[in-house]
Amino acid sequence: MPGVEQDNGLIFRVRPSKGFKGEVRIPGDKSISHRAIMLGSIAEGVTRIENFLPGDDCISTVNCFRSMGVDIDLSGDDPLGMGVTVSGKGLSGLKEPEDVLDAGNSGTTMRLIMGILAGLPFFSTLTGDHSLRRRPMGRVARPLREMGAEIWGRQGGNLAPLAINGRQLQGAEFTLPVASAQMKSAIILAGLNATGTTTVTEPARSRDHSERMLRYFGVDIKVDGNTVSVAGPVSLKGQPVTVPGDISSAAFFMVAAAVMPDAVITMRNIGTNPSRSGIIDVLAAMGASIRVENEREVSGEPVADIVVSSSELKGVQIGGDLIPRLIDEIPVIAVAAACATGVTEIRDAAELKVKESDRLAVMAKELSRFGAAVEELPDGLRIYGGRRLRGASCHSHCDHRIAMSLSVAGLVAEGETVIDDAACASISFPGFREQFKRIVS
Ligand code: S3P
Repeated sequence: MPGVEQDNGLIFRVRPSKGFKGEVRIPGDKSISHRAIMLGSIAEGVTRIENFLPGDDCISTVNCFRSMGVDIDLSGDDPLGMGVTVSGKGLSGLKEPEDVLDAGNSGTTMRLIMGILAGLPFFSTLTGDHSLRRRPMGRVARPLREMGAEIWGRQGGNLAPLAINGRQLQGAEFTLPVASAQMKSAIILAGLNATGTTTVTEPARSRDHSERMLRYFGVDIKVDGNTVSVAGPVSLKGQPVTVPGDISSAAFFMVAAAVMPDAVITMRNIGTNPSRSGIIDVLAAMGASIRVENEREVSGEPVADIVVSSSELKGVQIGGDLIPRLIDEIPVIAVAAACATGVTEIRDAAELKVKESDRLAVMAKELSRFGAAVEELPDGLRIYGGRRLRGASCHSHCDHRIAMSLSVAGLVAEGETVIDDAACASISFPGFREQFKRIVS
């Protein structure tokens, strides 16, 4: 992409840090950046986005909508947040893509776009990279078919490449087997163009960025406990959106500050949406010194500054409704747990097996290379803290959050840590290497 330098280093070497006091810049939120491009594209009029995350995943979303005829203009060269102008076409203005839509590594891109494409009057095909082509899409295809969509793919439509023949959809009612913002959002996006009411109930509340942004774009969306509903067809009006910093990216520096000696790290303008802020609750329960300051609201999302200092951490129990509130932070929480005294048990997190990698198996394997004692459970991890970590030669498994979590482990491990295939950090955190290097003194 012009003007943006991607992190091309394949290997990341980390040495233990002696301390850091200062500010670290955190890039724009990935989930909100995706949704701003999507809703901006299907809205009428212009959507101007500030602090858009130009990570590989969100660029995949930009390219998919460009392929459907939407004019999307990226400006600036800051890898942590850019300005974007989306010239919305309205739902009926999207055109049939001439080629396969490529969602790259991004589950959010593929699943949410499936919901949009299901009700549009054209044929389209979707694929992704090696990791995404192994992730379950049937969980979205099945409810969309119940609404009237025609969807094909490998394994009966469970695996990409997928083909979608858009049809007039009818609203329907669904109860999801797992809390998933991607499933919920795909169904609600399909509901925008369906006749009648579409209702989704989750077993626990997942991130609600879609609901908040749809409301911000003028859609009458109803939320009652864990149930969300929308009556279609509706139209959206383009809006200015300022994207908060990504709490999932801040999490690496929050844990780093807590486990490092002599650290005080400040991160400004971080999204603190309660459906995402489980990491703050867990770090506080572990005994971390963490302050949330200057709380305010930006474009319908709560935002604050977060300050974390060196702390003595202790093990905790994590499970139940807390899991969807920190689903992407579990790899780095596992690192915090390895540095804590006592045992940490993470349960009810089987969804981690179908993320960019099997994050339970991968964290158990990679953390044990550092000398940590980790047991993989069917739905989580048991981590026996308090062992001195040793620098290790480890692998990201081409999963951005694993690469960054292992970097944090390297900060406190004795000797050098070498992380192979670490360039994938740019999926969600372009410039991670530069920000991280600052705290390794
Ligand atoms: C996301 C939802 C979550 C999360 C992912 C982003 C979203 O996935 O893990 O990184 O933007 O909606 P699930 O909905 O599959 O849990």
